[in-house]
Amino acid sequence: MNIEPLASVQEVLPLLSECGLPVSDITPSASISFFGVRSGGALVGVVGLEIHPPFGLLRSLAVAPAFRSSGIAHRLVAFVESLAATHGIKELFLLTTTAKGFFLGLGYSPAARMAAPPAIQATPQFSNLCPASSAFLSKNVGTAG
Ligand SMILES: CC(C)(COP(=O)(O)OP(=O)(O)OC[C@H]1O[C@@H](n2cnc3c(N)ncnc32)[C@H](O)[C@@H]1OP(=O)(O)O)[C@@H](O)C(=O)NCCC(=O)NCCS
Repeated sequence: MNIEPLASVQEVLPLLSECGLPVSDITPSASISFFGVRSGGALVGVVGLEIHPPFGLLRSLAVAPAFRSSGIAHRLVAFVESLAATHGIKELFLLTTTAKGFFLGLGYSPAARMAAPPAIQATPQFSNLCPASSAFLSKNVGTAG
């Protein structure tokens, strides 16, 4: 499985919409890096990373329904965690209304919204796109030292 950087947000939007995830803050000028997996040329899995050193926001994890339960999301998350660590990110945050259990299984823990770093609180996803009922989770991804 090859995970590749995605240059065009236009390619990402249909898959996110199909999977019920917010897209209104995803514009060509947004500071989100997207990575994806293709099958037969078509994008079937995607994940996004916003970097706010030393923190990061993992977002927009989506796998096309026909390709689920084959490990694509696990690999996308592992890829982003590793990438974040190489960028000096110590802690990754995320919000989810649908996949809390998935992320708990990957070592993420519930985090206090009030204690979120200001840069994370300032992201559109935190401040207005995800409902207050969303799970807010975090994971340390920095390497020791
Ligand atoms: C959540 C999602 C990304 C998982 O993608 P995937 O490629 O099927 O995941 P993987 O194959 O790596 O892992 C599958 C396992 O994770 C767990 N899992 C998957 N979705 C889950 C969920 N919503 N809640 C809890 N556990 C979940 C299950 O144990 C599953 O195992 P199973 O195949 O035996 O049922 C996919 O279901 C999706 O795109 N959902 C809609 C968008 C979404 O909710 N994104 C997350 C918010 S950012």
